[in-house]
Amino acid sequence: MATSSTSLRAQAPKPGSSQPRAVLFDAYGTLFDVYSVAQLAEELFPGHGQALSVLWRDKQIEYTRLVTTSNNGAHYQPFGALTRAALVFALKKIVGGTLLHDDFMLEHDPAIEMLLAQYQHLDAFPENLGVLQQLKAQGIPIGILSNGDAVMLHAAVHSAGFDGLLDHVISVDPIRKYKTHPDAYALGEQATGLAARDILFVSCNAWDALGANWYGYTTLWVNRYHLPFEELGTQPSHTGNDLRAVLDFFPR
Ligand code: LAC
Repeated sequence: MATSSTSLRAQAPKPGSSQPRAVLFDAYGTLFDVYSVAQLAEELFPGHGQALSVLWRDKQIEYTRLVTTSNNGAHYQPFGALTRAALVFALKKIVGGTLLHDDFMLEHDPAIEMLLAQYQHLDAFPENLGVLQQLKAQGIPIGILSNGDAVMLHAAVHSAGFDGLLDHVISVDPIRKYKTHPDAYALGEQATGLAARDILFVSCNAWDALGANWYGYTTLWVNRYHLPFEELGTQPSHTGNDLRAVLDFFPR
């Protein structure tokens, strides 16, 4: 997807407003580019890469909501399992008609394993490493609060070169509830020992910025793709165009 470098400044905190004491980042879509799998998907399924990557992501998030809101979480599966299920769905819907024959087992297709392996090594957005390094140098506590399970998150962090930069890598997996459940956002307060309003929660996913805002975080929605925000009557605390907007909160 195209990004733009226009107007990199966040709507920075107003003079007199308190500075956040820590920063928590969403992972997928915010630190790691979930649509970067489109290239491999295109190589494997020419003409379908972009559509596959979009439906894969949408279905993955839909599944997190289904298992969190149904039957008190009885159908919970870790994010890695939901990611696989969402990919199988997307392949069946988008390329199934041309691929499937009677004895074809899509679940066992090597393409599934290749795409899932790629998901462990998603591209990080180019400015992200520098932003994390700068925050670390300034002594700001930083972390991830993600739906991803620990295995996925650690692989992605390592692959992006973020090792040693993050004070917290928080997965919702131990509580078996996905964002936007309040128990998931509460993990950020528990890990940092700070109140949500004192934490800057950063997400490119509008639904996630909204959920975090509703929970009580100070939020920065990084609107990389110049999309409208959710139309549910609440705006994020702040908006920026890429991750460098975080640095406006911490003048050197
Ligand atoms: C995350 C995904 C859902 O929580 O963006 O990292």
